[in-house]
Amino acid sequence: MKKTLLITGGIGYIGSHGVVAFETAWYETVIVDNLCNSSIQTLYGMEAILGYRPKFYEGDIRNTELLTQIFESHTFDGVIHFAGLKAVGESCEQPLLYHDNNVKGSLELFKCMQRYQVKKIVFSSSATVYHPGNLIPFTEESRVGGTTNPYGTTKLILEQMLEDLALHAGFQVMNLRYFNPVGAHESGKIWENPQGIPNNLLPYILKVWGGELPQVSVFGDDYDTIDGTGVRDYIDVVDLIAGHVRAYERMDDSRWKFTSYNLGVGRGISVLEMISLVEKVVGKKIPYIITERRRGDIGEVYCSPEKARGELGWKSETSIETSLKNSWNYYVANS
Ligand code: NAD
Ligand code: WQD
Repeated sequence: MKKTLLITGGIGYIGSHGVVAFETAWYETVIVDNLCNSSIQTLYGMEAILGYRPKFYEGDIRNTELLTQIFESHTFDGVIHFAGLKAVGESCEQPLLYHDNNVKGSLELFKCMQRYQVKKIVFSSSATVYHPGNLIPFTEESRVGGTTNPYGTTKLILEQMLEDLALHAGFQVMNLRYFNPVGAHESGKIWENPQGIPNNLLPYILKVWGGELPQVSVFGDDYDTIDGTGVRDYIDVVDLIAGHVRAYERMDDSRWKFTSYNLGVGRGISVLEMISLVEKVVGKKIPYIITERRRGDIGEVYCSPEKARGELGWKSETSIETSLKNSWNYYVANS
């Protein structure tokens, strides 16, 4: 019999890829999402890929009544928890919104899980939990803490909460720390298309390509990196999600309690390299200017994905060119 999973935030960028991958891997998924940063069109995109519409509850994970109704209506084997707000700048302007949405929302979810004896969870954490002073590459043993924004702090708090639940309440937790997700499902039917001015580099570059924004601002060219611009570890979202399926399957073994994994490629790409890679894919020059460093940024971040490779048998497989091409396909089809 198929196992049923609750997918919080399943209409979002990463969550929608998660729904498609878990459904394809023979799980039944049930989505809860309040659409605060996503569009119902993504549900139809998933329907087009799968040939049927996944089960969807529109609502907020802070709503205990709704969560109770969902847990009463389904027998879950586990939860894949993507729901959360993720804009670093916004979190500095509205810290309480982030603590309320991310921490309180997750707390309500964990309470409901405990009440219904659903104890397996895959959690979307982030590279942002690592202390900025660490040497690169970041490993799972690198120091965490010293977060520079409330968003990162909420992720750290939730990691600690989940570790407590694993140690003292029988939870099994796969804590996945994503580096910089890019790319899209090859169908071009699901991706993210942030409204307004995007924070992240790739959506910004594509909006410049599409003429929605005049030029890319490159935030600093005086870092100690290959060309002075910021270097990040860009991981394809479909590969990232394959890591979730592997991690979930590992929890069949109940000895697995709380484990953190870096999900990244293990290689850095600079902002100028990224612009030039996109130019090759789209066949057009992308205008850019060099500006001041962005507050809170660090020069170079990439991970060692060796632990996930050794223990989950997972590694990234998609080339950056393919990731960029898939994102571009989506952008062209949907703008
Ligand atoms: P996203 O905004 O596209 O998706 C998050 C989804 O959660 C959205 O559909 C949103 O509507 C929903 N949501 C938010 N708060 C909710 C609430 N209280 N109740 C119900 N639904 C709610 O973001 P994403 O890029 O898909 O990120 C998914 C997860 O991965 C997040 O937890 C994020 O912090 C984490 N993460 C993302 C990145 C990244 O760069 N995209 C990197 C590291 C970690
Ligand atoms: C990448 C590089 C910028 C935009 C953020 C969050 C992190 C995680 C992923 C959730 C940097 C440069 C960017 C632009 C630029 N999210 N840049 N011009 O900052 O590595 O990580 O998203 O967990 O928590 O902080 O990603 O895409 O914003 O930036 O020059 O217009 O591109 O300085 O070097 P970042 P990003």
